[in-house]
Amino acid sequence: MQTFRYAKPRIAIHWLAAVLIAFMLATGSLVLAELPNTLEKIGSLRIHMILGGLAGLLVLIRIGLGRAYPAPAAAASEKLAHAGHVLLNLVILFMAISGMLLALQSGALDAVFFGGVLPEDFKSFTPRKVHGLLSRVAMGLIAVHVLAALYHQFIVRDRLLSRMGLGAR
Ligand code: HEM
Ligand code: HEM
Repeated sequence: MQTFRYAKPRIAIHWLAAVLIAFMLATGSLVLAELPNTLEKIGSLRIHMILGGLAGLLVLIRIGLGRAYPAPAAAASEKLAHAGHVLLNLVILFMAISGMLLALQSGALDAVFFGGVLPEDFKSFTPRKVHGLLSRVAMGLIAVHVLAALYHQFIVRDRLLSRMGLGAR
């Protein structure tokens, strides 16, 4: 039974990123994608772009921290868990990259930060399709990730959540 924890900076970034990404996925699909591209959308787009860039940056910081602070001694199905974590990081990184490409290509970056005009619609831009598709992949992977964590915690009972700082050591 392992009860070792990740290093404090990795735990802090994991939960900060988790809240941020949940917020981005929910507001992106429920609010942003539903709004017509009028002037009123600029404010929400600005927040989305800044926070989305931050989410991408956090993935890079997390990869850097992974080198400085290796993961605690192995959980049960270590290879599968590791592959899942790499995949999660990659999908979030590609979401940030496709978002930035979309903002550049559509002129949204110019509209949001430099007073340009928004395109009539984002739908015709390829990075928009990639961004939307990846958001669904991210939702699916996160659901599997959370279910796997709960499965370990409550069915295997190996206190996996304590590795990420939840509950006693
Ligand atoms: C309620 C939501 C979440 C729970 C309960 C949770 C739980 C956990 C636990 C227990 C671990 C340690 C697993 C191990 O060491 O084998 C872990 C690691 C990890 N989680 Fe989550 N997680 C959540 C949300 C997220 C989200 C939204 C993301 C990103 C999309 C994410 C990405 C990762 C990554 C990349 C790792 C590997 C360690 C690291 O790089 O910090 N998690 N998670
Ligand atoms: C990891 C970070 C990000 C996440 C999780 C995320 C999430 C989302 C989601 C869920 C949608 C709606 C997709 C749909 O329902 O089809 C969306 C749309 C969008 N995102 Fe992101 N995003 C991220 C980063 C970015 C960045 C960095 C930018 C630009 C700099 C950006 C720009 C946009 C734009 C322009 C839209 C289109 C809105 C529309 O169709 O009206 N995103 N994003």
